[in-house]
Formats: sequence, structure tokens, C-alpha cells
Amino acid sequence: MVHTQYKQNKSSLTAEQQDQITAAALILREGGTVAFPTETVYGLGADVTNPDAINKIYQIKQRPIDHPLIVHIGDVSHLDYWAQAIPNSAWKLARHFWPGPLTLILQRSRHIPDSVTGGQDTVGLRIPAHPVALALLAALGPKKALAAPSANRFGRISPTTAAHVQEELGVAVDMILDGGACEVGLESTIVSFHDQSPKILRPGGIALSALESVLEGPVILAHNTSQMIRTSGSLPAHYAPATPLRIYSTKHIWDRSLALAAQGFRVLVMTWSDIGRSRPSSQSIEQFSMPVDPIAYGQQLYSKLRQFDQAAFDYMIIETPPDHHSWLAIADRLQRASYNPFDNKQN
Ligand code: TXA
Ligand code: MG
Repeated sequence: MVHTQYKQNKSSLTAEQQDQITAAALILREGGTVAFPTETVYGLGADVTNPDAINKIYQIKQRPIDHPLIVHIGDVSHLDYWAQAIPNSAWKLARHFWPGPLTLILQRSRHIPDSVTGGQDTVGLRIPAHPVALALLAALGPKKALAAPSANRFGRISPTTAAHVQEELGVAVDMILDGGACEVGLESTIVSFHDQSPKILRPGGIALSALESVLEGPVILAHNTSQMIRTSGSLPAHYAPATPLRIYSTKHIWDRSLALAAQGFRVLVMTWSDIGRSRPSSQSIEQFSMPVDPIAYGQQLYSKLRQFDQAAFDYMIIETPPDHHSWLAIADRLQRASYNPFDNKQN
């Protein structure tokens, strides 16, 4: 099934893209790094089996070496080459959602080196649903996989276009494959199976309700506990723009923005509800309406944060997202983006 989909995808690649993929596979085989598109965000890839190449990823990202990388594989049938003692529920999710924005944390096999997992005995695995990523994996050949975190500096906003990767990493990466804007725009959902019970470590592209309906049972949502600290995306300061970001309720958003404007700050206000239409007249306040639909909101979120971060605002004010499970991944990322250790205006 996956193969059929891959073949269809492959035929949609241009001859130029195919040539670039061939060149990228060569770079990877020689131990280089290649940024590539996935349906979630762009990844910074290296050959899983080459510890020197893996080391380059950590250096380029300035990421602490005990933060494990997600391993991208080309086909569900490769799952038990890279992982072992795979629970039935993990097979079910893999068969149903791959290729797609779901990462499974499983016991690693001996084919996954220590350098990829930060010494942990588990590994995060997924098949990306993007024709360029799948063609790259196919070009790498059998018994190969791509270790790839998001292609941003540690703690920063994940890139959702090739231009974002260029801005973030520039010449540090050997090649950037351009596959257009990412369809999902937020990272994959991460699920672990400790004690056989599926648990979401990071909400993302696949909704909790979708997981539950495939498993015909409950999926737990992990809270911010110390056990999650090794999941770097679950550190409080993450996905953060440099501009201080605040989240205010629909009710208070204009009061708070006006108070900041009164102190002489330039404020960008990002809304999703009708409240955007009652913008007060203040020259220091700019307002931007995001989509009301969480899928469309998620697609745009990172590129808008990046865009507004480059404009000279003193604050970014974001309207609290709706309290509904379909907004979980967005609420999670906004919350982390609002905690910023570089924020010297914290009050
Ligand atoms: O959508 C995505 O998942 C993107 C694309 C490129 O695939 N990748 C991504 O990678 O977001 P990264 O490294 O930025 O975030 C992966 C998260 C990290 O927070 C990492 O700590 C966690 O997955 N992770 C990886 N392996 C793990 C493991 N064995 N146990 C717990 N967490 C793990
Ligand atoms: Mg990341």
C-alpha cells in the first residue's frame, strides 16, 4: 500500500527534483547533511548509520547531545529492522497513519547507534508523507534511514519552507531540497508505549481522537513532568520567536494590548475570533487575523511567527486558542513560544 502511494508520489516529481535527490543521496552517503521537506516541517537529515554525520546535526543545531533525534524510514516493512519488541498497538498506528505526521517511540534495535538516541534505549521512528522525502529515502537504499530533527537552531521556530531553512542554517548545511511549503506546518504527534499503554508525548499533526479511534481505546496525554524532559520539544522554552510573545484571552486582548501601547511599545496582535474586527484605533497596534479552522491555523502559524518576528515589534500578542482538542498542538506550541529565556521584558 505504501509502495503504491510512493510510486504515485514519485511520478509527481520533476526531472530537476529527481536529479537533486540523486545528488542529495550522494552527499548523505558521504557523511554530509541535507535539509529536506516533510509534510510537517523541514528536517535536517543525516545517515543514521554514520555517527560523524549525526554529530554534524548536533553541531549545526547547537542541540544538547542527550536530546534524541527522530529517525525517518521509507516503508512500514522496515519498522522491525530499526525497532524491536514492537507492541501491536504500535503496528496498528504505523499501518494506519504512515506515511504521515506520527512518530512512534519504540525500543531500538541494534541497528540504531547510541549517537542518535542520546544513549536512551528507545528510538523515535516515522515515515514522512512527502514525495521528496520518500524519494530521498528510496535513493539512499535499503537498510538506510535519515536521522532528522527540525531544521532550526535549538529552541527556535521550526522551518516550514526552504527559504526558512536557508535563513536559519545557511551554509552550515550541505544541501537544501526545496519541496514547497509544508502541508501540516506543525511537528508530528509523538506517541510512546511505556507499559504497553499509548501516551502522547507531544501533540501534533495527528489528533488524539484519530489515534483513539484506530486503537479503539484511550490514549493518554502526558503532562509536563520531569520524565518528558528528554523530549526537547517538551522543554518549556521552545519553538520561540525572539520577540516576547504573550497569550491573552479574547476578553482581555485589547486591554492588555492598549496597556502595552500606552507604555510606548509596538504591538502585533494575532487573533482568530471576531474580536479582531473590533481593533482599537492605536497607531502602535497592528492586528492580523488567523484562520478559525485549526488545520489552516496550524499550517500558517510558524511562518507568521517568523514573519512578525522579523518586523520591529516589541511584543507579539496572541489570542488564546479555542479550548477544544482539535487545537491541542497549536495551544501547546503557543504556550512554549510564550516562555522565552531571552525575553528581558518578562513581567
Ligand atoms: O514532524 C516532526 O517530527 C519533525 C520532522 C522533521 O519529522 N521532526 C521533529 O524533530 O520535530 P525534533 O528533533 O525537532 O523533535 C523531535 C522530538 C524531540 O523533542 C526529541 O527529544 C523527541 O522527539 N524524541 C526523539 N526520540 C525520542 C525518544 N527516544 N524518546 C523520547 N523523545 C524522543
Ligand atoms: Mg524541533
